[in-house]
Amino acid sequence: MQGFDYQTPTRLIFGKDVIAKLPEVMTSLGKRVLLTYGGGSIKKIGLYDKVIELLKDFEITELSDIQPNPKYDPSVLDGVRLCKENDIDVILAVGGGSVLDCSKAIAAGAKYDGDPWDLISYKVKAKAALPIVDILTLSATGSEYDYYGVISRTETNDKIGYGDRLVYPVCSFLDPTYTFSVSKKQTAAGCADAMNHIMEQYFTEDTTLLNDGFCEAGLKSLMVNARTCIEDPENYTARAEMMFACTLGCNGIYSLGNSPSGWPLHGIEHALSAYYDITHGEGLAIITPRWMKYVLSDKTVDRFVKYGVNVFGIDPTLDKFEIAQQAIDKTYAFFEEIGIPMHLRDVGIDDSRIGEMAHHIAVNEGLENAYVPLSEQDIANIITASL
Ligand code: NZQ
Ligand code: ZN
Repeated sequence: MQGFDYQTPTRLIFGKDVIAKLPEVMTSLGKRVLLTYGGGSIKKIGLYDKVIELLKDFEITELSDIQPNPKYDPSVLDGVRLCKENDIDVILAVGGGSVLDCSKAIAAGAKYDGDPWDLISYKVKAKAALPIVDILTLSATGSEYDYYGVISRTETNDKIGYGDRLVYPVCSFLDPTYTFSVSKKQTAAGCADAMNHIMEQYFTEDTTLLNDGFCEAGLKSLMVNARTCIEDPENYTARAEMMFACTLGCNGIYSLGNSPSGWPLHGIEHALSAYYDITHGEGLAIITPRWMKYVLSDKTVDRFVKYGVNVFGIDPTLDKFEIAQQAIDKTYAFFEEIGIPMHLRDVGIDDSRIGEMAHHIAVNEGLENAYVPLSEQDIANIITASL
């Protein structure tokens, strides 16, 4: 077991109608609020009106239209400008991972005099950031409980996971009823994303019984509850458990003491999203079984056996490689069952830019240090197998 230095300062307030506590939380952080949100789902579900009513004593400036795979230009740049022009005290992010991620980059950029890209690209380390509060409306990324914001820059095909402890949310409001309106497509993609966050921590060299148990339980919970959420979108119990499993999925708590895996699936997927603007969870679901097949070997087979037996209940007396193969097939079948298109061609990606993307990933993601090291050619092979 490896050493670690861990702290999550984020307050989680979970349950029906918890945003009643919003004014109390915001009061301690300041009067001038930048309210950030996406393309309008929060208006459709009545959440926008509730927030405005609850914050009637605050001065609110708005940044709307933050897109999925949030863009540096215009969203981050506009947000930073609005913070500076209006002397904003605190950001309130209301939406899914894209709104939260964008708000994190804005929070750091607002306290920096230079080009915010310096921070996102790790050229400069931020010295301060505005506080962030969020109201989550989509279960997936875990952005509500981690210190990452993933930002895309279209002209350079970059999609960077910007991480800084300064941008942990101060408080996240988690009301599962706000996720009742999430479409089947986004529910499935969110499940695949959160499962992947767990797999990225599970498929690695050193693990513990304790962490393997957390991860296996997280994966099983996500599969059971995502199925229910898709069949019965207003099932509170399933939406609630899925929300909490996603919240825990990405902040490292499932793998404290494990060796790092290098997060190869995310390294590959972020480039696919950067080049083709696809839905992150779908890209991950498509690549995962192909990556699994590619890295299965004498060295990795025992991990796949454990995964297959403990997550899918495969007969442990079978041959090791048979168990591993069945586990990979069951992973594929689950994603297909919840409606995810399982080929890159289905989401608009053909073979024309594979070499370019593989090169970009090899140069920027450091996957030669992953659990199973991946060269540029390996990355190209995995993407090709996913077509
Ligand atoms: O824009 P609006 O109108 O709000 O619609 C959104 C968007 O179209 C909609 N939506 C959100 N809540 C809804 C809803 N529709 C109906 N009812 C609701 N309650 O869903 C669509 C997708 O939203 P988005 O925020 O993009 O989805 P998600 O939460 O999956 O976030 C994806 C982004 O997060 C990044 C991804 O790369 C991607 O850019 N990630 C962030 C991570 C992190 N911060 O740690 C880790 C992840 O690995 C991931 O990379
Ligand atoms: Zn992810």
